[in-house]
Parts: sequence; C-alpha cells; structure tokens
Amino acid sequence: MLPYNIHHVAIAVEDLDAALEGFADQYGFEVLSRETVEEQKVEEAMIAVGGSHIQLLQPTDPMSPVGRFLSRNGEGMHHIAFAVADIEAALEHLKERDVVLVDESPRIGGGGHRIAFVHPKALAGTLFELVEVVHDG
Ligand code: CO
Repeated sequence: MLPYNIHHVAIAVEDLDAALEGFADQYGFEVLSRETVEEQKVEEAMIAVGGSHIQLLQPTDPMSPVGRFLSRNGEGMHHIAFAVADIEAALEHLKERDVVLVDESPRIGGGGHRIAFVHPKALAGTLFELVEVVHDG
C-alpha cells in the first residue's frame, strides 16, 4: 500500500490570483478547482500538469500553519503529496516503521479526499502528504 504517484506539489503563495495568472501566462496551465478549506485555513487551487497537479495555497489566517510557513520562509514549496489507494493501510505501514506522523488518522482535505500529513522530521526535512484518490466511475 505504498504511494503510486505524485498527486501534487504544493506551493505557499501570498496572492493566489497573481500566482494563478502567472501559471497561466508563463506555462499555459489551467485551474482545475478552487476552494476554501476551512479546517486548514487556506484558499487552495489545483492546476493540472499532465497526470499530476500543482496545488497553490494562500492562507486565510496568518496564524495558520501555512500562514506561519509564509512568514518564516516566504513563498515556496510547502509539501509533496503522494497518491495512495488505501490511506489506512499506508498509515499503518508508516506506523510499523515508527515514522513520525502529523496525522495519526486520515482527515478530509481539498476535493473531499482523505489525507494525512507525515512530519518533515521523518524524512529529508520535507512535509509529505498522503492523498487517498478515489476514482468515481
Ligand atoms: Co496538499
């Protein structure tokens, strides 16, 4: 039950509209979806890049995790998300290896997907996210 793909690379931005315009102008990428995720206090947009995505995150609250990331680091890469078929099994796999998790159990993220974050101190100083991708139809 290991990841089979990179679902998205997430980038924290100060101004979502400006960033979307930049991705459209410079690369011709189009916006797939845009929504506010209250639980994470972000407005997020997904851009399709082949079979994967770039996720842009603009905090709605400066004290939120993404808000604090921006004030510490400025704009830039925030996390890499792996697609998994079964998020419970993927979390179990990591727990068996004593991997430090941010989320011990799945929660609901953008697009209604079940997600969980793995702590950046676990590997390569990078925040990883697991996304359970459910295909409808
Ligand atoms: Co993400």
